[in-house]
Amino acid sequence: MIVTIDGPAGVGKSTAARQLAQRLGFDFLDTGAMYRAVALACLDRGWKEDDHDLCVQVAAAVKIEALSGHVLCDGRDISRAIRTPEVTHAASIVAQNPEVRDALVQQQREVASGRNIVSEGRDQGTVVFPHAECKFFLTADPRERAVRRQRELAKAGHAIEIDELMQLQKDRDDRDEMREIAPLRPAADALIVDTTQQAPEQVLEHLVAVVRSRQTSSRATT
Ligand code: DC
Repeated sequence: MIVTIDGPAGVGKSTAARQLAQRLGFDFLDTGAMYRAVALACLDRGWKEDDHDLCVQVAAAVKIEALSGHVLCDGRDISRAIRTPEVTHAASIVAQNPEVRDALVQQQREVASGRNIVSEGRDQGTVVFPHAECKFFLTADPRERAVRRQRELAKAGHAIEIDELMQLQKDRDDRDEMREIAPLRPAADALIVDTTQQAPEQVLEHLVAVVRSRQTSSRATT
C-alpha cells in the first residue's frame, strides 16, 4: 500500500508521515530530504544557483538513501547537515530543475516498489504515485507554519526572526506552487487536512483512522 502526504513546508508533514509509518508498520520515505541531499552535494562542489548542469550531474551520480528517518548520501550520514538554512534555500532552487526531478522521481518509485510505504513531499500524490491507495494534502495558516519552523530551527541552534521566516517561506511556496513541473497542489483524490488548530497527535490519529478504514474497505472488496 502507498500512502502519500503532500503539502507546503511547516504543516507538520514530516512528523505526521514518520509517526503514521511507525503506527502502520510501513516504511517512511522523506522525498524532501532527497532534494536536500542533492543540494548539499552541489554546495560541497562549489555550485552556483545558475549552474543547471552541475545539479543534474550530481543528482545522477550520488546515491541517496532516505528511508525511515536517517539520510545517507554515498554512505555518509547527512541527516543533520541537510537541515541548515543554506541547504533549505539551495534545495528549493535545485527542486525546480526538471532533470533533477526526473532522476529523483525514478529513485522514489524504485524505493517504493514492493513495499508498504508512507511517502512525503510535494508531488507524491500527483506525479510520483498517482495510483496511491491513500492520499493526504496537509495545509496550515502561513504564520502558524512559520512559527513552527522558527521553533524547529531554534532547537537546531539557528535563531531567525519570524518576519524573515515568513518571507523565506513565501518565496519557497511561490517556487513550489509556480514551477512548471510537478507544482505543489493537492491531487484530485487527496483528502485535505488543515493542521492549524490541531496538535500533532490529533493529526496523527485522524490519518491513522483514514488509512485503517481504506485498508478495511479494500480487504472487503478483494
Ligand atoms: O520538505 P522539505 O522542506 O524537506 O523539501 C525540501 C525542498 O524540496 C523544498 O524546497 C521542496 C522540494 N521538494 C519538492 O520539490 N518535491 C518533493 N517531493 C519534496 C520536496
